[in-house]
Amino acid sequence: MVKPVQNVILIGPMGSGKTSVGRRLACVLKRDFFDTDFEIVARTGVAIDHIFDVEGEEGFRKRETQMLKDLCEIPNIIIATGGGIVIKEENRNLLKHNGFVVYLSSSVEQLVKRTAKSKTRPLLEQSTNREKTLRDLLTAREDFYQDTADLIVDTTGKKLYSIINEIKKAVGQ
Ligand code: S3P
Repeated sequence: MVKPVQNVILIGPMGSGKTSVGRRLACVLKRDFFDTDFEIVARTGVAIDHIFDVEGEEGFRKRETQMLKDLCEIPNIIIATGGGIVIKEENRNLLKHNGFVVYLSSSVEQLVKRTAKSKTRPLLEQSTNREKTLRDLLTAREDFYQDTADLIVDTTGKKLYSIINEIKKAVGQ
């Protein structure tokens, strides 16, 4: 069942489907949808890779934490987060205390497929071996995803509607 604050927050690696699931879930539950990356782009007026270029990953992470704080102030929304949101303890605490957290887990093979055409993810753009990068990031972050989550949904090979149904059931809707 949902925690007292009824936001649903999606976490998981790049390519796990947070944005697609979040959009559809918001439609189904009749809530507003926000994506931390999209909101950072809207607020700054520049792309995420540009922020990485100018301010480095550290600058991006500061903006990400501020955005998460701001979105957590809005009640009853669906939030999709960037894949690296869980690396900071401050973020993990914000997530745990401000919503029902769903970890969309995926096989590395699926993440590779889903991100194959991506040109906007600096950590993949900089990489000469995307599969290794995705695998290494997942290994480093897996425990954080699991520890932060109220619900883990394995999305590997699943259709969108079945993922949505699992989450709906868990939040009691
Ligand atoms: C990142 C994931 C991206 C974005 C940034 C860093 C990461 O979000 O926040 O490129 O560290 O895994 P998506 O998970 O939505 O691709």
